[in-house]
Formats: sequence, C-alpha cells, structure tokens
Amino acid sequence: ADALKIGIAGLGTVGASLAKILVERRDMLETTCGRPIEIVAVTARSKGRDRGVDLSAAEWFDDPVALAREAKIDVFVELMGGAGDPALAAVKAALSRGVHVVTANKALLAAHGVELAGIAEKHGSLLNYEAAVAGGIPVIKALRESLTGNTISRVYGIMNGTCNYILTKMEKEGLSFEACLKEAQRLGYAEADPAFDIEGNDTAHKLSILTTLAFGTRISADDIYLEGITNISIDDIRAAADLGYRIKLLGVAQKTDTGVEQRVHPTMVPLDSVIAQVDGVTNAVAIESDILGELLMVGPGAGGNATASAVLGDIADIAKSRPGAQTVPALGRPAAALAPYKRAQ
Ligand code: HSE
Repeated sequence: ADALKIGIAGLGTVGASLAKILVERRDMLETTCGRPIEIVAVTARSKGRDRGVDLSAAEWFDDPVALAREAKIDVFVELMGGAGDPALAAVKAALSRGVHVVTANKALLAAHGVELAGIAEKHGSLLNYEAAVAGGIPVIKALRESLTGNTISRVYGIMNGTCNYILTKMEKEGLSFEACLKEAQRLGYAEADPAFDIEGNDTAHKLSILTTLAFGTRISADDIYLEGITNISIDDIRAAADLGYRIKLLGVAQKTDTGVEQRVHPTMVPLDSVIAQVDGVTNAVAIESDILGELLMVGPGAGGNATASAVLGDIADIAKSRPGAQTVPALGRPAAALAPYKRAQ
C-alpha cells in the first residue's frame, strides 16, 4: 500500500521522540497500520541540532507555513506550540488543502479550535489532537468516541504534569518550588514558558477543550476561574497533610442548573482518594456520565515519549482510515452544532 507521508513541524522534546519512534518502529507500524508511515518533510527552529535520529532523507523547510502549504504530504504534524502564528497559519494552510492535521497544541485549540474544526469539516480533512490533553491518556478518544450517547455531568482531574511533579517533589523531598520547577524543565515536562504551567493557563487550555467535547459548547479558556500553584508553600502542603489532605492542581468542568462551571485551582483532596495518590508527572482525568458511570484514567501526562505516543496513535488512526469512511468530527460534533458557552452563575 502507499506510504502515509507526513511532515513534522517542530523537533523539540516531542517532535524528536516522535521522529525516533517512527524511524525505529517503521516495520512494526507498517504491519499494524497496513502501510508504511514516512517522514518526508520537517521544519524546526534550529536545523543543525543532533536529535538522535537521521532525518536527512526528509525535505527540510525553513518555514512551517511553507511546509504546510507546499510539501507533498498526507498529514501535517504540528508540534511547535503557541496559540498564534506560525502554528495557526500553518494548521489552517494544511487543513484548507485537504491535508490532515495532528497536533499537540492545546493553546492553539483553546483559542482557535472551533474555527479550525470548521475548516477541517469544510475541506474533508481530519483534525486529531489526542496529545493536547493529559499527554498519553486517551481522554479525547474517550469523549469524542467511546462515550457517544452518554450525557456527561462532570469532567475533572490533574492535567498538568509539571505542577503535579512540583507539588509531589516539594512534599516528598522537601525541595523548594524553584528547584522542582527547574527539574521539571530539565526533564522536558514544562512549557517553553513555564508560567503557563505554574499559573494554571495550561490546565485551563486543556479543560476548555474537554468542556467542549463533554458539553458541546464553544471553547472558552477565558471563562475559566484560574488560580495556579505559585503561592503554594511547603508549609501549606504540610498543613494539608496534617488534616488528611493532599494539595493538587485540579481542572473541573461541571454542568449546573445555570450553565457550565469551569475552574482551575489548587484543591485539597482526601489522602485516601485515588486522585491524591497520583504522583509526579502522572495525570488523572475523571469523567462522570449517565450510561457508563464514573471513568477514571491515570497515566503519563507530559514528556517526550508520553506525548509522542498519543501523537503516533492519531497518525496511525489516519493511516488506517479509508477514503470516504464516516469520520468522527474533531470536536465530537460538527463545529456548527456547538452551543455558545453559558457560564454558570
Ligand atoms: N507542560 C505540560 C505539562 C506538557 O506539564 O503537563 C503536557 O501538555
């Protein structure tokens, strides 16, 4: 069968992990997907850096928008990050010419997800973004596909690996906030600007995506009550422990009589709850729905391999999809069918 040709924009922690896996597991992926997956084009900020993988056979582009617009590809894999251009322009360019997009960019989706889903629907391209929320945990698949027909009442969880890593390390090793953050950056968990992690914006971006999928409303990260972990001290963590609690940064979206309530803030969770036991870079997402009941998914939430694993799953879905097959809309339902977001009073 014809190879699935992909172009990768961004070869940082996630992009480099993905490229390595695609090269090293080429045969295995060909068997699983029924066709080879080939990296035919790449772009990144620095061309020369050694990324531990030979990409010399792929065409190099200096400009991600040019890659999205001109490269002979079936899938554009956007791993640059950032809510605006060039990621936005590149994703639009790809979708508009029928090229499928796989992205891990939660900031982009939180700001432009509905518009991008609309473009994808218009041009028959797919927009997949499993890696954008909770790293390797298949929460987008759960909401877009598995829970179809359920009415969802609540979605909540630990969605930022960096914050959970910091809170865990402060408690267990008595290290300072700054030292823990540095370590999270060194391990490739943190955002390029770690303020997005520790001030809660990253969790808000992810939560807004889950809210749209769960409740069929337009994405609205700006509507989320937001409080990060920058004011949490070791004393706070110890005081909580004395009372039988652990402090976790939670994102919560739930249906109320007056609208959808969305909030992100440090929360005291009882020590004997499952979510209190979720340590380090691990994430946890709980979904409460009427047919299934409560679903709790726990797994690696950040880092090169965890995120690349989710990106790879999205690429494989496209490799396996047949032309003309019924596809799941990017936002779980057509973009035009989304309700305006109604904030709880
Ligand atoms: N900086 C993010 C985190 C990366 O720590 O969770 C994964 O989205």
